[in-house]
Amino acid sequence: MPRLDHVAIVVEDLEAALPFFRDLLGLPLDRVADVPEEEVRVAFFPMGGGEIELVQPTTSDSGVARFLARRGPGLHHICVEVEDLEATLRRLQAAGVQLIHEAPLIGRDGTRYAFIHPKSAFGVLVELYERPRVKEPVVPGEG
Ligand code: CO
Repeated sequence: MPRLDHVAIVVEDLEAALPFFRDLLGLPLDRVADVPEEEVRVAFFPMGGGEIELVQPTTSDSGVARFLARRGPGLHHICVEVEDLEATLRRLQAAGVQLIHEAPLIGRDGTRYAFIHPKSAFGVLVELYERPRVKEPVVPGEG
């Protein structure tokens, strides 16, 4: 079954948002991290195989900061895991879907990712993830 990797919610103040999700909804807070290269501070709540991610912009001129300024806090994107991101992007492009990234980007942990423009996704920014494959163990002396 395809996995929903995460749902990202943009907030103005991460610390102010934590009590609602952690204490009132009762979701376990897994980790909070600064991601300077993306100009955000994030918090993750794992849920049933996926995660809710809170995102607070830490500068005023990133894409997510402009999103927050324009639309206010709320749903920023959903992220769906795919098997083969390159093939998925080619298939989407062939179908006339507007992509934000026409080739996969590579994250810190090796995850390949790309975004589909909300214009082509019924108003929702959609991220696609291809998780790094778990490498086969190398057996010395074989092959
Ligand atoms: Co994401």
